[in-house]
Amino acid sequence: MLKALGLLLLVGAARGEFTVLERRDSPPSGFSRVGPSPPDTVLTLRLALTQNDISGLQERVYDVSTPGNSRYGQYLSKEEAESFVAPSEDTLNEVNSWLKTNNLTSSPMTAAGDWIAVSLTVSQANALLAADFSTFQNADINQTVHRTLSYSVPTTLKARINTVYPTVTFPAAKPPSTTNTKTSTIPRRSLPTTSISSDCLGNWTPACIQELYGIPSTPATSTANTFGVSGFYNEFADISDLTAFLKTFRPDIDPNTTFSLISVDNGINNQLPAGVGITADINTQYAVGLATGVPVAFISTGTGSTGTIDVFSGLLDQSNYLLSLPQPPQTVVQGYSVFETDMPPQLAESICNSYAQLAARGVSYIVSTGDYGASNPMGGIGCTPWAVPFPSSCPFVTAVGGTEFNADESAESAVNISTAQFASGGGFSNLFNRPRYQDAVVSAYLKTIGATSMSPFNISGRAVPDISAMATGSPIVLQGLLSQGWEGTLFSATIFASMISLLTSERIAAGKPGLGFLNPLIYQNPTAFTDIPTGSNPGCTLTNAFNGTVGWDPVTGFGSPIYSKLRELSNKF
Ligand SMILES: *[C@@H]1O[C@H](CO)[C@@H](O)[C@H](O)[C@H]1NC(C)=O
Ligand SMILES: *[C@@H]1O[C@H](CO)[C@@H](O)[C@H](O)[C@H]1NC(C)=O
Ligand SMILES: *[C@@H]1O[C@H](CO)[C@@H](O)[C@H](O)[C@H]1NC(C)=O
Ligand SMILES: *[C@@H]1O[C@H](CO)[C@@H](O)[C@H](O)[C@H]1NC(C)=O
Ligand SMILES: *[C@@H]1O[C@H](CO)[C@@H](O)[C@H](O)[C@H]1NC(C)=O
Ligand SMILES: *[C@@H]1O[C@H](CO)[C@@H](O)[C@H](O)[C@H]1NC(C)=O
Repeated sequence: MLKALGLLLLVGAARGEFTVLERRDSPPSGFSRVGPSPPDTVLTLRLALTQNDISGLQERVYDVSTPGNSRYGQYLSKEEAESFVAPSEDTLNEVNSWLKTNNLTSSPMTAAGDWIAVSLTVSQANALLAADFSTFQNADINQTVHRTLSYSVPTTLKARINTVYPTVTFPAAKPPSTTNTKTSTIPRRSLPTTSISSDCLGNWTPACIQELYGIPSTPATSTANTFGVSGFYNEFADISDLTAFLKTFRPDIDPNTTFSLISVDNGINNQLPAGVGITADINTQYAVGLATGVPVAFISTGTGSTGTIDVFSGLLDQSNYLLSLPQPPQTVVQGYSVFETDMPPQLAESICNSYAQLAARGVSYIVSTGDYGASNPMGGIGCTPWAVPFPSSCPFVTAVGGTEFNADESAESAVNISTAQFASGGGFSNLFNRPRYQDAVVSAYLKTIGATSMSPFNISGRAVPDISAMATGSPIVLQGLLSQGWEGTLFSATIFASMISLLTSERIAAGKPGLGFLNPLIYQNPTAFTDIPTGSNPGCTLTNAFNGTVGWDPVTGFGSPIYSKLRELSNKF
């Protein structure tokens, strides 16, 4: 019996057995199948090949990022990082000979060769991958894409290929922009319990944020570092809006201070009224407005080879582009966020591996946790409870949640959904294990709330956020007009990243490397943050999910940053 079975398997393998690499039951809500894709349509597929030593790279990230380690600050060069992620000789040979058998050739998409691109027709792709490429339409956003619900690779190549993109991944719906609310109408009064100017409560201008966290207004001591601000979705950053913003809110600095452009996938930054993006305006106004004197670069990520606006290919192309630079920006802020449940696991892993490479190169990659709480707090279709935001759930980024400080509050607290109408993202990953730097505090938190493996969230996953900062009631200039009461964790991430870029400047002026991947430093030094034990981040249909606690919690992490204490640490190591 056993012998016969063995023989059968062998015959199967000889005939070219396939193994399903990824599949999904149906397209995501919004998309419906129109029919088969025209067989002659040309697709460009990207293949993520297995990297030869990603766990070695991750170990190195912890070495170079952990204060006290003998390798602290010894970031890898471009070539050194690439040597960990390049596919093995065997992987390259086997994948290329498979493509050759199918009359296809590939071209490398990264210097390491871990991503390759193959151009082919739909009929070739269907044969190559045992796929069923079909036309899917999303009427809501008038988008038509060619995707397959399942694809396979030869069984012998299963361990050589991590993912093929785009196949089962559909473009993520663009999250609604941060909302302009009524917070500017909240009456302001002085409170005896706080030393913060009463005018700030509910109207968090750059000067107020500087006062709250102790951020200096004096210019950075070195201009040899760059603070990159990530942009997607053809949302552009308007220079005249920035000038007007600086005139109003930073009268002490040159109003002509601006930013440079890093173009990814032919991304542009036109200055037409229709191109003004709220996210891009918020990001650049608060980056230039708080990181005084630090050169800011707006990273405009175009549509790339997919031709559609898609945050997945955007995230991928952007990190691969930054990795292609001999010296990527030392600080990057990334304000777009999706739910991990909307990410195919292999693609999330590949993108997270690129953040590990950026960490190894000494980049502080700072992301916002999104504005949807521990799931979509307003409930509705597709609401998945206990959902965690990505890229926040990647262990190699610093995830920043949101706080508020209104006139009726005596201290900063977590964003309150009742008044702010949004909630700060947080929770536990289902894709990434809890990294060691947060093991002690997260275990302690889980013990406090009595969580077990029966809890509805994944107690073994990477926990989010790491820290938090102000997310409500800030003014911006939009299309020439002053507009108040803006909110979203985008502000939080930009505020914290501005602080880190100022400290990075100071280190570079002192001949030291930048701060790199921040989490090992943060988790060793919780006292550099003001603990925020109040508030919650609700889940679906406004039910309670996580609550603030004393110490780290999945609502505000360790709390909000204290510049003077971070500076002490920054100067110490
Ligand atoms: C590849 O091209 C050769 C020569 O044109 C042809 O005989 C063969 O059938 C092709 N193979 C595939 C898989 O298309
Ligand atoms: C939808 O997209 C197509 C192709 O891009 C365009 O021609 C058409 O005008 C769009 N329709 C709407 C309603 O926007
Ligand atoms: C800013 O630029 C404008 C236009 O080029 C110029 O007229 C103005 O003098 C500049 N302002 C400062 C403070 O340099
Ligand atoms: C929980 O997270 C781990 C990764 O830390 C993952 O391997 C596991 O599948 C997750 N469990 C569920 C039920 O999703
Ligand atoms: C949130 O705001 C509501 C409405 O003002 C208030 O009743 C509630 O106590 C607040 N929650 C917290 C945790 O402060
Ligand atoms: C948060 O508090 C609410 C209300 O007390 C409770 O129902 C919920 O279980 C708490 N959440 C966690 C994760 O402990």
